[in-house]
Amino acid sequence: MSNIIYLDNAATTRISSTVREVMEPYLDNLYGNASSLYSLGRESARAIHKARMDIAEALNCDPCEIYFTSGGSESNNWAVKSAAALAAKSGKKHIISSEFEHHAVLHVLQALEKQGFEVTYLPVYENGIVRVSDLEKAFRPDTGFCTLMHVNNEIGTIQPVSDIGALCKAHGILFHSDAVQALGSVKFDISVLNADLLSLSGHKIHAPKGIGALCVNNKIRLPPYIVGGAQESGLRAGTENVAGIVGFAKAVQEAVSGTEAKNSKLLPLKEKLCKEIMKLEKVHLNGDPEQRVVTNLNFSFEGIEGESLLLMLDMAGICCSSGSACTSGSLDPSHVLLALGLPHEIAHGSLRISMSQYTTEAEIDKLLEVLPGIINKLRIMSPLWERIKNQCSIQKK
Ligand SMILES: Cc1ncc(COP(=O)(O)O)c(C=O)c1O
Repeated sequence: MSNIIYLDNAATTRISSTVREVMEPYLDNLYGNASSLYSLGRESARAIHKARMDIAEALNCDPCEIYFTSGGSESNNWAVKSAAALAAKSGKKHIISSEFEHHAVLHVLQALEKQGFEVTYLPVYENGIVRVSDLEKAFRPDTGFCTLMHVNNEIGTIQPVSDIGALCKAHGILFHSDAVQALGSVKFDISVLNADLLSLSGHKIHAPKGIGALCVNNKIRLPPYIVGGAQESGLRAGTENVAGIVGFAKAVQEAVSGTEAKNSKLLPLKEKLCKEIMKLEKVHLNGDPEQRVVTNLNFSFEGIEGESLLLMLDMAGICCSSGSACTSGSLDPSHVLLALGLPHEIAHGSLRISMSQYTTEAEIDKLLEVLPGIINKLRIMSPLWERIKNQCSIQKK
C-alpha cells in the first residue's frame, strides 16, 4: 500500500509517528486499569490526568471541561441529546441547526423531532455558509438550544462560529458546535469560540480511531451519558482507552501548534489544484472559494458519476471521496451538496480532495496528471454528455 496517494484526510488520517510513540507503552507494559489502586493502575490514571491537562492547555480551556469519548459521533450524540434535555426542563423545545450538519447531529435532531421538539434548519446558501442574520431571525421565546458545525466535512466551508456563539450567549441559549473538521485546520481557541459544548475526534488529526472528546463549559451540568463506573466524573462510564487518550492529547497539541505551518505548506497545493481543475470543462467548485479550510476542495463535474470517478482514481492508486465516508455506499446524493442547491445529477458527480500535512506536491501533480483523462473517458461513456456539453451552465435550484 506504500504507493497509495491518500487524499481523503477528511474521512480519516494516518497516525503520526510521534502519536504512535507516546501510545506504545500503554499498549505494552503499562496496561493497568486507571481505577486500580496499585502503581500500574495509578500510572494509567496519571497518564489520563496529564493528557487532560495538555489538551486543556492546547485548546485554552479548563481540564475539567474535557470529557473523553469514543469520537465525534458520540460527542455529537451526547451534546445534542443532553442540551435538548436541559432546554426542555425549562420548557424550551425549539432547536436551531443547519441543513448540512453531520449525520451524527442530524439523525439525533430527527429523533428529537419525533419526541416533540421543533427544529429550524438554517439554509446554507450556494456558498455553504450559515448567515448570522438568519440565526437572529430564527430565535423564538421557546428556543433552548442551537447546534451548528464549525467546518463542514464535505465542502470545507468555515462557519462564523464565534459570532453565532456570541449571539446565542446574548439570548441565553446553549450552543454546541461540531468542531471535528476544524481542529488542526483553523486557528483554535475555545475561549473565543463562545461554544458551551464542542465535539472533537482523534482520527481526523492523526490520532487513532475510537477516541475523541466533548468539551463542556464548566457552568453547565450535563446529565450522565453512559452510566456504570465513575469514570469521566461519573458522566461517561467505561474503562478508559488510556493509549487512545494519550495519543489523542499528543495529536491535539500537534494539530494546534502545527495549524499555521500546515496551512502555509498546503496553500500553494490547494491553489494549483483549483487552478488546474477549474480549467476542465463544466466543473464547479462547491462551497465558498475563500471562507474554507486549505485542506479541502470539493468539485462537481457535470456528466460524471461520482462512484465511477472514485473507482477509476482508485485504480490509479489515488484515494479520494465523493461525499462523506458515512454516506458512500448509498446512492442518495449528498445532503450537503443538495443543501447548496445543486441538482441531484450534478451532486452525484462530486469529488472531495482532502489533504494533510503529509500531502506532497508530487502527489497533487499525479492527481492532476490522471484526472483529466479519467473525466474524459467517463464523459465519452456517458449517454448524457453530448446533451450536457451543449447546455449553457448548471441550473441551481
Ligand atoms: C464534521 C464531523 N462530525 C462528526 C464526525 C464523526 O466523527 P467520528 O468518526 O469520530 O465518530 C465526522 C466524521 O466524519 C465529521 O466529519
